[in-house]
Amino acid sequence: MKGIILSGGDGKRLYPITKSITKQLLPIYDKPMIYYPLSTLMEFQIRDILIIVKPSDLKLFKNLLGNGSKFGIKINYKIQKKPAGIAESFLIGEKFINKSNVCLILGDNIFHGIPYKEILPQNSNFNGAKIILYKVQDPDRYGVAKFNKKNKIVKIIEKPKKFISNYAVTGIYFYDNKVINFAKKLNPSNRNELEITDINNYYLKESNLKYFKIKPGGVWLDAGTEKSLLQSSLFIQTMQERQNIQISSPEIIAYNNGWISKKKLISSVTDINNSYTSFIKNS
Ligand code: DAU
Repeated sequence: MKGIILSGGDGKRLYPITKSITKQLLPIYDKPMIYYPLSTLMEFQIRDILIIVKPSDLKLFKNLLGNGSKFGIKINYKIQKKPAGIAESFLIGEKFINKSNVCLILGDNIFHGIPYKEILPQNSNFNGAKIILYKVQDPDRYGVAKFNKKNKIVKIIEKPKKFISNYAVTGIYFYDNKVINFAKKLNPSNRNELEITDINNYYLKESNLKYFKIKPGGVWLDAGTEKSLLQSSLFIQTMQERQNIQISSPEIIAYNNGWISKKKLISSVTDINNSYTSFIKNS
């Protein structure tokens, strides 16, 4: 399974904060936002990762994350010229995906306390698609799943104006290699984007869309609005301080996964003393 983080977009909902800084590099408490989806992929044991960015941001992301070797992973970069839709990831990433399955995660999605092993499709027999659902109070902000009486998804609707259910489609998606062909068939939607929801509906038509509902206790935050940006920071601060943990640190996950040595872990932060690095030094 390869991983893609989609980290472009114009961040208009956060204007003027995002006029000169890209959304996914804004702080979520003590870390840049991109650390969170990157950590989620690493928790899924995905080590070959493509980050898709805006042309103006390539240098900034490379400066922060490099080629991934400090996290024991491989990071490649590709440019998205303009925000033509989430599903364009599979066209931009076609060569990178090659013959593999792929997990796409959105660059502003934060997960905590979710059952990674249960969610990750088993590589050997995975075919089709798997989406991850979360019960929300404001489904009109998201792609939403409509169920029949047998609890099967019958349709996914992007930002439904009429209530169909509380189950939002989160920004983690697993696909087999067919996703590239589906992406090639897409036409731009009314908002002029290649919609990820249309890809999911293709799989649904083929009866090959699986889903996992995150149970209460698991946390999903989409940090794309001023309110959710602040909420995300406060959530991370509260959890880290009360539980004396470090959430979504790629360095610590790499070390716990056995991908980097203790020496390499410490050497990445030797000269810097703050609460983030002291956590790393004490891991
Ligand atoms: O967060 C989950 C939701 O994400 C899903 O429930 C929806 O089905 C899905 O369409 C998407 O909804 P949004 O309209 O909120 O997506 P947004 O435009 O905010 O883009 C999500 C992230 O992807 C954001 O970090 C920017 C990035 N992006 C988006 C587009 C359209 C790109 O990098 N390139 C793009 O072309």
